[in-house]
Formats: sequence, C-alpha cells, structure tokens
Amino acid sequence: MRNLILILAAVCFALVGNAMAFHDHGAAHCNGCHTMHNSEGGAPIDPDSPTGNDWLLKDATPSDVCLSCHATRSGAVFGADPLVPPSEKGGGNFVYLLEDNINDGHAGATNPIPGYQAGHSIDAPSKGVGPDGIIGQAPGGNFPASSLGCSSCHDPHGNPNFRMLYGVGSIQDGLYTFTQPAPIAEGLGLSGIESNSNHTAYQDGWSAWCGNCHGDFHNANGNLVHPSNEALGGTIANAYNLYNGTDDPYGGDQLTAYLASVPFEDLTNTVGSTAGPTGSGIVMCMTCHRAHATSAPNAGRWDFNVTLLHEDGVESGSYQIPDPYASLNQRSLCNKCHVKDYNDAPYVP
Ligand code: HEC
Ligand code: HEC
Ligand code: HEC
Ligand code: HEC
Ligand code: HEC
Ligand code: HEC
Repeated sequence: MRNLILILAAVCFALVGNAMAFHDHGAAHCNGCHTMHNSEGGAPIDPDSPTGNDWLLKDATPSDVCLSCHATRSGAVFGADPLVPPSEKGGGNFVYLLEDNINDGHAGATNPIPGYQAGHSIDAPSKGVGPDGIIGQAPGGNFPASSLGCSSCHDPHGNPNFRMLYGVGSIQDGLYTFTQPAPIAEGLGLSGIESNSNHTAYQDGWSAWCGNCHGDFHNANGNLVHPSNEALGGTIANAYNLYNGTDDPYGGDQLTAYLASVPFEDLTNTVGSTAGPTGSGIVMCMTCHRAHATSAPNAGRWDFNVTLLHEDGVESGSYQIPDPYASLNQRSLCNKCHVKDYNDAPYVP
C-alpha cells in the first residue's frame, strides 16, 4: 500500500511537475514571452517584426510566441510535416493547416478542401498560416476568426484549469468575454501517446465551453443538428459497448469498450479508463471533433466524408487518420453508437 502511494505520488509529480517547468500554473517568467526593448546584444529579438506589437511580445503574434516552444516539443502541437505528424495527445495538430487538400470524398483529388478547413486556423506567420480563408467568425457565435490563436482558448498568464483553458471572464486583452466555465478533464502527459487506455478523460462541461464562441450551436438550430451535451441513454450506451468494429458489431464488452477515437463525457472517466459508457454517459462536441485540427475537414476525429476509413488520405494525398479497428471493412465511427454499418440492424442481435 505504501509503495502504491509512493508510485501514485511520483506519477502525480510527473504529470503536474512538467507543466510546472515553465508556466507554474501562474504567469511564467515574463521574458519567456515578452521583451521590454526588443533588443538583445544590440539586435532586434525578432527580426521578422521590427515594429513589434501591442503587447511587447517576443514574436509577431501571440500564437508565434507559444509555438516558439510548443511547435515540435512540449506537446508538439504544430509538427514539422503534415504527413508525419507528432503522436496524438488529444487536441489534434495544427500542422494539417499546411495541407493543400484534405478532401477524401468522391473526386476529392480534383475538388480540394484546403488545410485551413482542417480545424481552428491560427494567426502564426512564423509557420506560414493565418486566419481561416472563408469563415469570418465562429459559426453559431461572433468570435472574430482574424483574432483566433492559442491565447483565445489558453490563458497565456496561466491558471489552474485543465490545460490552462480559460473560464468565465475577459480574454485576450479584453477582446471577448467567456460566459461558460473551463471544462473539467484530466490529460495525459505532454510526451504521452493517445491510446484506448491513455487518453484525455472528458468529465464535464465540454459542450458548454465550446459554446463560449459557438453559442448553442448544436442545439439552437432546431432539428438540423446532432444532439450535444445529451445523455446517451441505455440503448445507445449498450450499442457503444457491444460495438467492436464493422467486422464484429456485437462482440464488444463494456469493460473494454472505450474508444479514444469516439469519446464520451462522464464524471467517472480517468486517463487510463477502458470502460464504455452507462446510459448517463454524454455525447459532446469532443465525441466527433478535436480542439485544434485534424487531417479531416472540420477537425473531425475521423473523416466524415469517406465510407471506409481506409479511404482516408487516398484522394487527397494527406495523412491517413489511423483506423482504431485496423480493418479494410471498417466504416464510419458514427457506428460506434448507431450500428448502421450494413443495414438497420437491431442494437442487440
Ligand atoms: C506564455 C507567454 C507569456 C508569459 C510568460 C507572460 N505573458 Fe503577458 N502576454 C502574453 C500574450 C500572448 C499577451 C497578449 C494578450 C493575449 O493574447 O492574451 C500578453 C499580454 C500581456 C499584457 C497586456 C494585456 C493584458 O492581457 O493585460 C500585460 C500587461 C502582460 N502580458 C504582462 C505580463 C507579465 C507582467 C508577465 C510576467 C509576470 C507576463 N505577462 C508573462 C503572453 C505571456
Ligand atoms: C519558453 C517556452 C514556452 C513558451 C513560450 C510557452 N510554453 Fe507552454 N509550456 C512550456 C513547457 C516547458 C510546458 C510543460 C511541458 C513539458 O512537460 O515539458 C508547457 C506546458 C503548456 C501547456 C500544458 C499545461 C498542462 O497543464 O498540461 C499548455 C496548454 C501550454 N503550455 C500553452 C502555452 C501557450 C498558450 C503559450 C503561449 C501563450 C505557451 N504555452 C508558451 C513552455 C512554453
Ligand atoms: C475562442 C473562441 C472559440 C472557441 C472556444 C472554440 N472555437 Fe471553434 N471556431 C472559432 C472560430 C473563430 C472559428 C472559425 C474560424 C476557423 O475555422 O478557424 C471556429 C471554427 C470551428 C470549426 C470549423 C473549422 C473549419 O475550418 O471548418 C469547428 C469544427 C469548431 N470550431 C469546433 C469547436 C469545438 C469542438 C470547440 C470546443 C473544443 C471550439 N470550436 C471552441 C472559435 C472558437
Ligand atoms: C479553440 C481553442 C484552442 C486553441 C485555438 C488552441 N488550443 Fe490548445 N487545446 C485546447 C483544448 C480544448 C485542449 C485539450 C484537448 C483534449 O485533450 O481533447 C488543448 C490542448 C493543448 C495542449 C496539450 C496537448 C494536446 O495536444 O492535447 C497543448 C500543449 C496546447 N493545447 C497548446 C496550444 C497552442 C500552443 C496553441 C496555439 C498554436 C493552441 N493550443 C491553440 C484548445 C485550444
Ligand atoms: C455526432 C457528431 C458531432 C457532434 C457531437 C458535434 N459535431 Fe460539429 N460537426 C459534425 C460534422 C459531421 C460536421 C460537418 C458538417 C455537417 O455535417 O453538418 C460538423 C461541423 C461543425 C462546425 C463547422 C460548421 C461550418 O459552418 O463549417 C462547427 C463550428 C462545429 N461542428 C462545432 C461543434 C460544436 C461546438 C459541438 C458541440 C456543441 C459539435 N460541433 C458537436 C459532427 C459533430
Ligand atoms: C457517442 C455516441 C454517438 C455518436 C458517436 C454519434 N451519435 Fe448520433 N446520436 C447519439 C444520441 C445520444 C442521439 C439522440 C438519440 C435519442 O434522443 O434517441 C443521437 C441522434 C442521432 C440522430 C437522430 C437525430 C435526433 O435529433 O434525434 C442522427 C441522424 C444521428 N444521431 C446521426 C449521427 C451521425 C451521422 C454520427 C456521426 C457523425 C453520429 N450520430 C454519432 C449518439 C451518438
């Protein structure tokens, strides 16, 4: 027992201790991000932005500053090559914004969907990306796409929330106000790799948090939208638990049914939990989307435009999102809850 406590203490330290390394759950040392004179050794710190910016930042935009540390290390949220992305941690990767085409639907090769539709576009000239090319403001709300960046969601001056996400209050130097609290979750270590037994544990408040910018997006549009922040109910939870892929739709087991590619929200989830949902598990934005970007349109956890998952990446030549069931027959992961791989099969055979 004592050993277990020591191990747990060590694990806790490993998880919390790393983030302490710089942000310290409060504002890190100011000159990690700010410069008072834009001068060091007699030369500008950032030659690319000689006139500086409103916040005395060391780089051209807030996102550039964050990416100076976070692009390929400390979580690696903007990998070096969209075809060889860093391992997944939960958020998804911004490197896909660089893709010229992510359309793997029919005739996708000749009808490109550009990378800026891979998810949240951020203004980061150092990486060759800027605001979304089409959408002017957050669908369902009015957050301006031109101002979207790391510090639109994460507090640059640190806070105790999951991943330093903003809670209720003013953000980005007064640009906008969040009305919904930070979501509750536990995350894997930043050097971890997402798997069915090592994944973000989504616990509470996710749909409401996305709603800070997207309004009541998946509820306010009448019948044209999928429910979000709604309990699965016994029938769908049972379907999720039995579903073990297109090849084995009824062979699963509740104890091992958790699929990191199709998460649900529940207060009992842990980073290592492998259990599928009960009827009170909740379908939420993160069931279908990732928070940053993916190599599918709309930051989809899987590509919503392909019939068989192995078709992903083929038409477009973009990165193929791994099929969690690794089968050439595997169909859309909507089936994890709805089991319509082949026909209107009953939920329980
Ligand atoms: C991790 C990077 C980072 C660190 C460390 C940091 N800042 Fe900032 N700071 C920013 C960013 C980015 C902005 C621009 C506003 C925004 O995007 O939220 C900013 C804006 C500001 C502003 C003006 C606008 C506002 O939000 O009030 C002040 C003042 C400020 N920082 C002071 C500090 C001080 C003092 C420290 C050290 C105690 C510090 N910052 C540490 C990133 C950082
Ligand atoms: C000087 C380097 C540096 C800069 C600049 C920097 N970070 Fe970090 N950040 C770190 C380190 C180091 C960690 C801890 C990661 C590790 O385990 O190595 C971290 C951790 C984080 C985490 C995870 C925290 C957790 O609780 O899991 C987030 C989110 C984050 N940073 C966001 C940002 C944002 C947003 C900015 C820009 C406003 C930023 N960082 C700027 C170095 C930096
Ligand atoms: C700080 C405001 C903000 C928050 C918080 C936010 N979004 Fe967004 N979102 C935007 C803006 C602005 C756009 C349009 C510009 C773009 O696509 O980059 C957008 C676009 C999107 C898109 C379409 C992407 C595309 O290129 O077609 C999806 C999907 C999305 N958001 C999902 C989410 C989810 C899920 C969450 C919660 C994890 C979330 N958003 C939280 C501001 C936000
Ligand atoms: C639209 C909101 C949003 C924006 C913009 C955003 N993040 Fe995140 N970020 C999140 C959320 C939500 C999570 C947790 C995702 C999860 O675990 O499912 C996260 C997770 C992370 C993590 C943990 C590792 C991971 O991949 O899960 C790091 C580090 C991070 N963000 C840094 C950044 C940096 C740096 C930027 C800018 C380049 C950025 N974020 C922009 C919302 C955002
Ligand atoms: C059941 C899966 C699912 C859930 C849950 C879900 N979405 Fe979506 N979302 C999609 C799909 C699929 C699309 C692609 C467009 C479509 O089919 O309407 C999409 C598109 C979007 C877009 C882009 C719209 C545009 O105009 O380009 C945004 C923004 C978005 N979702 C935000 C959210 C937010 C916020 C939540 C949670 C409140 C959420 N989604 C929950 C599946 C989902
Ligand atoms: C985590 C489980 C889950 C996933 C994954 C999921 N759904 Fe659903 N879906 C639900 C729940 C719960 C309902 C509400 C059922 C009810 O009220 O009887 C629902 C309802 C629906 C409905 C009926 C619309 C309505 O308003 O009742 C459709 C159509 C649908 N989903 C399609 C999809 C599609 C397409 C996808 C993939 C993009 C998907 N679902 C992914 C859980 C899920």
